[in-house]
Amino acid sequence: MQKRILGRTGRTVSVIGLGTWQLGGDWGAVTDADATAVLAASADAGITFFDTADVYGDGRSERLIGQFLANGASGAEITVATKMGRRAEQLPENFVLANFREWTDRSRTNLGRDTLDLVQLHCPPSAVVESGEVYDALDTLVSEGVIKNYGVSVETCDQALAAISRPGVATVQIILNAFRLKPLEQVLPAARAAGVGIIARVPLASGLLTGKYSHETVFADSDHRNFNRDGSHFDVGETFSGVDFEVGLEAAIEFTALAPVGLTPAQAALAWVAQIDGVSTVIPGARSVAQAQANAAAGVTEPLGVAFNEGVQDIYDRLLREQIHPRW
Ligand SMILES: NC(=O)c1ccc[n+]([C@@H]2O[C@H](COP(=O)([O-])OP(=O)(O)OC[C@H]3O[C@@H](n4cnc5c(N)ncnc54)[C@H](OP(=O)(O)O)[C@@H]3O)[C@@H](O)[C@H]2O)c1
Repeated sequence: MQKRILGRTGRTVSVIGLGTWQLGGDWGAVTDADATAVLAASADAGITFFDTADVYGDGRSERLIGQFLANGASGAEITVATKMGRRAEQLPENFVLANFREWTDRSRTNLGRDTLDLVQLHCPPSAVVESGEVYDALDTLVSEGVIKNYGVSVETCDQALAAISRPGVATVQIILNAFRLKPLEQVLPAARAAGVGIIARVPLASGLLTGKYSHETVFADSDHRNFNRDGSHFDVGETFSGVDFEVGLEAAIEFTALAPVGLTPAQAALAWVAQIDGVSTVIPGARSVAQAQANAAAGVTEPLGVAFNEGVQDIYDRLLREQIHPRW
């Protein structure tokens, strides 16, 4: 497993991490036993970065990670990034020190850690990303030892650039995958120049890039790929990366044809993100041990090469750019 420095945290993490939204909810049912097995298989495969949030299953994802770390021998080496801010109404006045204390205290309890490794603002409104007082409050938590580092998870490239310009921001989490190329233009160069880590989320476009779905695929009622297809529950960019499902199926067929021999389309998709200069870690979500193991294996692949990169760009330009580029 390749390792990278996670931006201004200075911590070394695996280039393939694990996203654990699936272990909380919104992706259909995952049992406690299956969730714990995914965490264990990931750690066994060399993954040392877990991404979670206080709202995933209303704390279930954090609690499962906390239990795993308490029981597991490998726990001490794993960096856990959580997120806060989505348990309150998305109003700038809610992003204040008193609430940050309450939210981080809950996450510290859930995760069983006195000091949180990395806390990310969870896609807050732009006014929050741009507020000096918000960062002052986060600096206070660092000075008190409540958190070691903070970062911002964002929806848009403009928000990413605003976060990167702040001296205390250690990491930015953003959607970056073969169907979401805009961050390559300004966000990655700015992050590299500033030494801010990039956590690449939704790297499989919610599974579209695996090439395994068809027009007949049905997602469970409790799966956001069913109930948030129109963005009625949260930003539609988080579901299939904002790509219309039918268009995405067509693009996925073309992407699958690019995958080199020996790699599944999912592994090619992850390896492609991992090879981008400035990406610190790529965080696919996994619902099973087999998925977690296959994803970890993408952290040891050779560079994909010029023809692959050109193929990705061509698919994006012809099928997706018009829909995606102006929005995020
Ligand atoms: N606002 C935010 O900050 C935010 C928003 C979204 C996500 N995230 C983070 O980013 C992480 C990753 O994004 P995501 O989970 O939304 O999307 P993703 O990683 O692009 O897609 C995950 C889905 O891909 C499929 N999959 C994964 N590995 C596979 C494999 N090896 N073979 C076949 N299928 C595979 C599974 O689909 P099936 O379930 O159909 O098997 C899985 O549920 C999340 O878990 C979360 O930690 C953060």
